[in-house]
Amino acid sequence: MPFITFEGLDGAGKSTQIARLAQRLTAQGLHVVCTREPGGTDIGDRLRELLLDPAQTRLAPRTEALLYAASRAQLVAEVIRPALAEGAVVLCDRYVDASLAYQGAGLGLGVEAVAAVNRFATDGLTPDLTFLFDVPVAVSRDRISRDMDKRGPDRIERRSDEYFQRVRTAFLRIAETEPDRVVRLEASRPPEVLEQEIWAHVQNWLSKHDRGAMRE
Ligand code: TMP
Repeated sequence: MPFITFEGLDGAGKSTQIARLAQRLTAQGLHVVCTREPGGTDIGDRLRELLLDPAQTRLAPRTEALLYAASRAQLVAEVIRPALAEGAVVLCDRYVDASLAYQGAGLGLGVEAVAAVNRFATDGLTPDLTFLFDVPVAVSRDRISRDMDKRGPDRIERRSDEYFQRVRTAFLRIAETEPDRVVRLEASRPPEVLEQEIWAHVQNWLSKHDRGAMRE
């Protein structure tokens, strides 16, 4: 069964769509495992706290990339590979592409260098399908600032518009380079429209790969 990832700037609507897709797949009788990055395991959740904590002002860019990769290595070993081996559909909120965009392009570490670290971390596990939720930086900023009434910005959210522009551009480049894996979604559209589009792509993937477990 497929390993599906969801990428994009914060506030692009990924979590709503992950929940809706999980519901649809479950209704088809499929076993679905939803997880997220950084985190998704005990070790990963501890790394997540470090990575997002605004008090961690001295984290070097390479350390940051390695900690994201470490959280991912644990998630792959403890959750994703076992779930795929059991025949589950795995839905993951962010994966390697996030590191390529946020650390490789955003922090200027280089996309290829970060890709190499992540090939090691994941032992080469790549998603079958990736949905890139594309929104302009201003839309992302606007949506997360509404959230921030409840909490302050995390360590990553404190970065500049220029940083997020580099991240968005890198995501778009990945989508262009790997059109068979990555579906770019115009994510400013209504959730119902996005939900239909995602569902059509997932059904198409399942039928192409002859995963006949789906009921009509
Ligand atoms: P989120 O759970 O709200 O998506 O927060 C995770 C934050 O971490 C988000 O701002 C994106 C960032 N991030 C990276 O910078 N690199 C990564 O590899 C991942 C997975 C997330």
